[in-house]
Amino acid sequence: MHQLESDFSLYYDNKSSYYQSLCQQLEGLLSIERDPITNMSQVASFVFYSIPDLNWSGFYLNVDDENLRLGPFNGKVACVHIPFGKGVCGTVAQQRQSVRVDDVHSFAGHIACDSASNSEIVVPIVHDGRLFGVLDIDSPTLNRFDDDDLVGFEKLAATFAAATNL
Ligand code: SME
Repeated sequence: MHQLESDFSLYYDNKSSYYQSLCQQLEGLLSIERDPITNMSQVASFVFYSIPDLNWSGFYLNVDDENLRLGPFNGKVACVHIPFGKGVCGTVAQQRQSVRVDDVHSFAGHIACDSASNSEIVVPIVHDGRLFGVLDIDSPTLNRFDDDDLVGFEKLAATFAAATNL
């Protein structure tokens, strides 16, 4: 698989073109199936192995507009239920706006699933006015992510949404 042979120097050289290339690869990967479980599983693995220095990548799904439930992911086992408004994922679900956290230990209400996590990005996935869920990416490195990563993850989430029956 191409994703396992990723050259991470390209990532560090030019993040926006790296993410653009990832989106094209992801479009191809998701072009054969529109099932949400299948495609979320592929996205979680693709992100985990295509981007350096991550310890968790996956989805939390909107259950009833008040609670999130763990979806497909790569990484250590995680919290199963997160209420809207709680932690980074619940905050993003409520606000429907991406959040980048440089140091999770200074984010009030952060939910520590893997004690190795030090920074995090969470992106909402909205389809036809309804929150489908959020894409959550964690890193063991403080200040791991910048605005290019945030925009990149939003584009990957949009690629997933366009290729999937949500
Ligand atoms: N840290 C997240 C919880 C999910 S785990 O990181 C996988 C949060 O505060 O919402």
